[in-house]
Amino acid sequence: MDKLFSLDERLLKCASLVPDGSRLVDVGSDHAYLPVWLLKNGKIPFAIASDINEKPLESGRATAEKYGAKDIEFRLGAGLETVGEDDRLDCAVIAGMGGEVISLILEGSPLSKKLDLVLQPMTKSEELVKYLCENGFELKMQSCVFCRGKYYTVIKARFDGEKREYEESFLYAGRLDLSDEACRGFLKNHIKNLKNKSRGDKSLLPLIEELENML
Ligand SMILES: C[S@@+](CC[C@H](N)C(=O)[O-])C[C@H]1O[C@@H](n2cnc3c(N)ncnc32)[C@H](O)[C@@H]1O
Repeated sequence: MDKLFSLDERLLKCASLVPDGSRLVDVGSDHAYLPVWLLKNGKIPFAIASDINEKPLESGRATAEKYGAKDIEFRLGAGLETVGEDDRLDCAVIAGMGGEVISLILEGSPLSKKLDLVLQPMTKSEELVKYLCENGFELKMQSCVFCRGKYYTVIKARFDGEKREYEESFLYAGRLDLSDEACRGFLKNHIKNLKNKSRGDKSLLPLIEELENML
């Protein structure tokens, strides 16, 4: 059996937010690095690697076989549709997809309201934060990493039924710890994108100023 691989900073951050001992579903698992790494490090007892496409699932199966991960099942299908109450899950990781797709996945299953959620939007994190606020999910924490030349954010959330009012700036700054260099870099990227958009939409200027004042 091969020596276990290391996770990159992005997936390592996601892994660090999965509570020890969780029964996990990794939605959009692809290569299944995250669940295999968590299993082989003894952090979790059981995982489901789920993906909408067969090819990624095959690659996930190959990862599990190569590194001898046993307590893992592979399921083909969209979002959380592949799992149910019988799986007795505690936590879902949904990483490496756009914020809008992640929101649709949460919306598509009542199970999203019962699990610890570790969400890693590649784009449109503001759409995901908006969805969470408007649909009764608490952003328990938000963190950022710099990985392979890019900034990424990871959000830990849990449904509590309380719909939250929010300022527009919260959608971008969320619960970022702005004393952290990676969080600052992530917010600066948002500001850069908003500045580009503001060339055609001057109404964004007060928001940009508010975000700049946070740095
Ligand atoms: C870029 S990969 C991310 C892999 C891994 N989660 C990561 O963060 O490194 C995205 C994966 O999500 C899968 N995917 C896209 N939309 C999905 C959906 N609605 N439900 C389940 N899987 C989906 C794709 O087939 C692909 O394997």
